[in-house]
Amino acid sequence: MVQVGTVSSDNYFCAGLKSDYTYSYAKRCIIPAKGHPNESTKIAIVNNNGRFTAIQNQCAHMGNPLHTGYMTDIDIEDVVGAEGACSPGLAVVCSRHMWSFDVQTGKCGNGTDSIHVYGVRVDEQDCVWVSVEPLPATPKAV
Ligand code: FES
Repeated sequence: MVQVGTVSSDNYFCAGLKSDYTYSYAKRCIIPAKGHPNESTKIAIVNNNGRFTAIQNQCAHMGNPLHTGYMTDIDIEDVVGAEGACSPGLAVVCSRHMWSFDVQTGKCGNGTDSIHVYGVRVDEQDCVWVSVEPLPATPKAV
């Protein structure tokens, strides 16, 4: 197995084994910034029945860490399918003031705010890799 913390040549961070992630929970992942020991990227990785997605671990409202929230089903209309993406209709609810965020798109339930989404892949050795940089924002469906 690749060592946790390894960064691949295409900027994915090894965040442990699939079995480290409990179903339907968001787990915190901290990626140290290269060359900046006091900086890091804070991500929450979600295992939705064996399919993975990753979001910014900071609420768009007042910055609460989202891995302390809980998961809930949601109705969404503009889901874009992607390898490694979660099943449609799952959101994390912030534990502080209950704002919710779609774990696949990062969109907030209030319709205006959003958080970053990161790429996730699982390799043949069941290692979970998360992109160091957020994915480009998903365009709104028209
Ligand atoms: S800090 Fe998350 S809803 Fe207020």
